[in-house]
Amino acid sequence: MGQQLNIILIGFMGTGKSSVGRKLARKLNKEFIDTDQEIEQLIGLNITQIFKKYGEVRFRSEEKLMIEKIASKRNCVISTGGGTVLDPDNVAILKNNGILICLTASPATVLSRVGKNNNRPMLKNKSSLELISSLIDERKPYYKCADFSVDTSDLDIDEIVEKIFLFLDERGLLNAEVNG
Ligand code: S3P
Repeated sequence: MGQQLNIILIGFMGTGKSSVGRKLARKLNKEFIDTDQEIEQLIGLNITQIFKKYGEVRFRSEEKLMIEKIASKRNCVISTGGGTVLDPDNVAILKNNGILICLTASPATVLSRVGKNNNRPMLKNKSSLELISSLIDERKPYYKCADFSVDTSDLDIDEIVEKIFLFLDERGLLNAEVNG
C-alpha cells in the first residue's frame, strides 16, 4: 500500500506557516514538522544566532540538508522557512511526495505580524514596509511553484486551515497516497 502525501506550507515570513501548519496537522491527524525548528534543535542555536555565527550560506546549506532529511517522511504537515523554495532542488524534493500550499500576506500585514523584535535575520531585525515589499516582490516568482495559495491578510488561523482543508477535499487529496 502507498504512503500518504505530505502537505507542505511555503511562503513569506509572517504569513502564518507555523501556526497554520500546527493546527492543520491536528485537523488532518498528521505529524507536524517545522523545518526551522528542526534546524534550531539540530544546531542548538536559534535562527538569529545561526545567521550571526555562521552566516546565511551555512543556514541555506543546513536548510537543504534538512529538506533532504525529511524527504523520506510521509503523512506529515511540513512548515518551511520563507526562503526554502528559492532553491529549486528543495522544491523538487518537496513536490516529489507533497502538495505545496503557499500562504501570502500584504506587506503591511507581514510587518504587523513580525513586529520589531523578531527572529528574522533576513529583515535585519529592522523590518520596514519598504524592505518587506521589495523582498516579497523578489520572491514572488519562487512562490509560484505552489499547487494552491491562500492570501492570509484578512483571515484568522482557523479560516486559513479551513480554506486549505476545502482545497484538499475538493481535489480528493485528503486521503491521497503516493507510491513508495
Ligand atoms: C527566512 C525565513 C525564516 C527562516 C530564516 C530565513 C527567509 O522562516 O527560515 O530566517 O529567507 O525568508 P519564516 O518564514 O518561518 O520566518
